[in-house]
Amino acid sequence: GKGNFRHFMEKELHEHPAVLGDTLQQYLDPGSRAVSLPPLPFDPATVPRLTMSACGSAFLAAQVGRYWIEQLARIPVDADVASELRYREPPLAEGGGAILVSQSGETADTMAALRLLRAGGQKVLSVVNVPESSMARESDGALLTVAGPEIGVASTKAFTAQLALLACLAIGFGRARGKLDEAQARLLAHTLTEVPGHAAQILEQDEEIRAMAAEVAKARDVLFLGRGALMPIAMEGALKLKELSYIHAEGYPAGEMKHGPIALIDSAVPVIALCPTGPLFEKTASNLQEAAARGGRIMALTDAVGARALRGFAERVIVLPTVHPFAAPILHAIPVQVLAYHVAVLKGTDVDQPRNLAKSVTVE
Ligand code: F6R
Repeated sequence: GKGNFRHFMEKELHEHPAVLGDTLQQYLDPGSRAVSLPPLPFDPATVPRLTMSACGSAFLAAQVGRYWIEQLARIPVDADVASELRYREPPLAEGGGAILVSQSGETADTMAALRLLRAGGQKVLSVVNVPESSMARESDGALLTVAGPEIGVASTKAFTAQLALLACLAIGFGRARGKLDEAQARLLAHTLTEVPGHAAQILEQDEEIRAMAAEVAKARDVLFLGRGALMPIAMEGALKLKELSYIHAEGYPAGEMKHGPIALIDSAVPVIALCPTGPLFEKTASNLQEAAARGGRIMALTDAVGARALRGFAERVIVLPTVHPFAAPILHAIPVQVLAYHVAVLKGTDVDQPRNLAKSVTVE
């Protein structure tokens, strides 16, 4: 049941700290701060190339995973939504590997991609939340997120659990490939062990996020911006808002805004910026300033140091815990889900069962 919560989604949002902790514990030993992965269908030390694929939110998690794996392990990774991968006739690398991501493990497009990749000689690893699912059965290997059953149609805790698992993979691959030394790997693993606690802190910022939601609920169009591994999270924010509140939203790489979407910006369009401190902060901040100069209403998710720089021109700033940039995508995923939840509640839409959507999409 829903317990004391109004919706399954609200309950599932509050399960973030536990689910992140449980998933990390499968792949990361908190004592030694070392990632330990079970035997995989491909050898991350030698695999020439990886293909990642999924649908919807799971695809956006895969895209974050791609950024991490390329950065930390220097393995070339392709990432495509499953319904495109299937018909693109991609040239697959000999001896290549694949990682497919799915909460249900039953999504028809992802299943079709799985079969195509296996027929093309790729060793397929599935990341699923349901151990007995079709994808787990048909893959060469499966890793489990430990999110528990997700009832809300729009994915929340399963998405962040996917991110946590992919983060462990990226560290493990970085070690296997000799691209991370032990100290670097320990630092990143330690960063992950702090994520469940930070998630709990973010859930306590509910009032602030709800106040932001009251503004967003009045908008007809909303833009979400982010760079690097925050870019797919911006897209996730837009997807969640569309699904739950039926407000038109777009997620965009922040640097791409000036190449078109900036034309949309006026004082009626909230621009939600995912802008933690890190190597890309200055660039994103200057993109936001451009938007503000055109009347855009900047609402930023950042950390304490970022807030100092953004407060001059941002209408609202939500200050998230200060973390290593590696963990920032996982943490930023939570407030964008909470925001979409509150906007939907304010608009009176069916939060757990949005129109036209099904939890498991078993048609292509
Ligand atoms: C969005 C959402 C969907 C799913 C997608 C894939 O909130 O839930 O976009 O992520 O349909 O589903 P799974 O992960 O079951 O393959």
